[in-house]
Amino acid sequence: MEGLRRLEYRGYDSAGVALVNGGVRRVRKLGKVAELQSALDADPCAGNAGVAHTRWATHGAPDEANAHPHISGRIVIVHNGIIENYEALKKTQTERGFDFTSETDTEVIAHQIMWHLSRGGDLLRAVSLALKDLKGTYALGVIDVEQPGHIVLVRNGSPLVIGAGADGGHYAASDVHALLQVTTDFIVLENGDIARIGRDGVRIFNGELEDGELRPVERAPVATPLSPHAIELGEFDHFMQKEIHDQPCAVTDTLEGRLLDDTVPDGILGPGAAALLDAVKAVQIVACGTSYHAGLVARHWFEEFAGVPCRVEIASEFRYRRQVILPGTLFVAISQSGETADTLAALALAKKCDYLPSVAICNVPESSLVRESDRVLMTHAGPEIGVASTKAFTTQLVTLLLLAMLLGKRAGMEPAVRAGLVAQLRNLPSRLEQALALEPRIRELAQQYADKNHVLFLGRGRHYPVAMEGALKMKEISYIHAEAYAAGELKHGPLALVDRGMPVVSVAPNDHLLAKLKSNLQEVRARGGVLHVFADSGAGFRSEGDSVVVIELNAPENAVAPIVFTLPLQILAYHTALLKGTDIDQPRNLAKSVTVE
Ligand code: M6R
Repeated sequence: MEGLRRLEYRGYDSAGVALVNGGVRRVRKLGKVAELQSALDADPCAGNAGVAHTRWATHGAPDEANAHPHISGRIVIVHNGIIENYEALKKTQTERGFDFTSETDTEVIAHQIMWHLSRGGDLLRAVSLALKDLKGTYALGVIDVEQPGHIVLVRNGSPLVIGAGADGGHYAASDVHALLQVTTDFIVLENGDIARIGRDGVRIFNGELEDGELRPVERAPVATPLSPHAIELGEFDHFMQKEIHDQPCAVTDTLEGRLLDDTVPDGILGPGAAALLDAVKAVQIVACGTSYHAGLVARHWFEEFAGVPCRVEIASEFRYRRQVILPGTLFVAISQSGETADTLAALALAKKCDYLPSVAICNVPESSLVRESDRVLMTHAGPEIGVASTKAFTTQLVTLLLLAMLLGKRAGMEPAVRAGLVAQLRNLPSRLEQALALEPRIRELAQQYADKNHVLFLGRGRHYPVAMEGALKMKEISYIHAEAYAAGELKHGPLALVDRGMPVVSVAPNDHLLAKLKSNLQEVRARGGVLHVFADSGAGFRSEGDSVVVIELNAPENAVAPIVFTLPLQILAYHTALLKGTDIDQPRNLAKSVTVE
């Protein structure tokens, strides 16, 4: 149950557990792990082998019948991922006499394994035969009630780790956080692996049957530096709030060892990075959601400081498009979790194309993205539990700026410019502390949002993606419809939305676009919109009663300003959601790691 609680942030539509003890006892509940816990408190169960699951619904509504574990005859199963050919399998299985009790794609896996098991052999063999019939991505935990000493595990495109507990038990989970209370040493399964854990230890096999036999493979254990306390709330009410406040430290940790005097050493990208960096003539960034917004900010840095053309694309679009690749293009994938299915698929596609070796920007060392990329720039944000990404974003921006500086060095960046950027980065944690100190004023401002249905966010240049990120945070956790526009685009349509009382949030750094932005904001004022401007203290904005509220930030250093301006928007979304009473850390319909397409 502790493991399930720690995994809950990844999916929280329903939770279930099945324990084998003579027969099988299954308990499933709609909603959060706490509901399951109450059911188990009222009617406890025990056993020596079990599987449990928190669900983010893909096939079938979030209800008890669709909750995992699923059962077919002797087979008990939990599954992450998607089975793409489930309709065809369901048809065949129905003809074979199998009954369906759920709308999930998971149930066909259980039936398929049961079908092979009924034809002879042990569970391991039945699972490996069933895998040949499945198309899609999955991580599985499977028990045969008649061979209860073992659990069979499969990894194919969805993450799975195994840990040996100090208590002599063996455990598996879809991320290391779930098992930190029993171990810090893990075996990370690779795609195609089948493993069996039990009282007698762990055995791992290559999933392909050769002459009817599975071939054993070795997977070395890795130690994680994470502590079980890394994901405790401490003095905060929500993980999102904690993670917003973690940002000065997260940025300091991400910069640690990456600034040398007034330069960024090539070695931060690993041994032999200089040759790769020398070859870069263009950059292609691919990511989803907040990580995509980080890429959009970075595009400005790559083009301004390094003079290399940079394209940024949402991974789910990129992966289905014909690639036209400029010679010498560096492929950069950004992902907090490193398990986002679309980003991983985009990376797999890129590896088959004519890109330079790939670079991952990621927060999870054990993740698929880190393992599958040629080079890695880790963000050291620490575990991010709130579904709304905060410290991952700002630390992604820090690493992307470092990468832009490495390329800038090749493009003849003046030493004074480089030294200036290094100084800005060194100063950044204290700028972020100052931004956090605005929380009481922003909390007050949030009161004007709680009864609103729509909000516009405006920015220009590299602050346009900051506005996009502010709008994403607002809609994700407060459920208020929020859209971001490049302020210059307003008059081409969205201005029609502005009427008396409509809140319009703007990010106003003191940069070369300030005068243009001010004109755009006048257009909003003239239509009765209420302006809430987060402005650099040197930008010359003044509050006017309730209709123009200016909150000043100290963000004079231009390059890192997008990082500083992000924080007040995160805080605004947080306090708006708090007033609305939404589930801030686990907003409706979402999950932290999107491991399905
Ligand atoms: O783990 P990733 O960075 O790949 O996740 C990508 C998006 O799912 C994620 O950033 C999402 O948009 C956030 N929940 C937004 O706060």
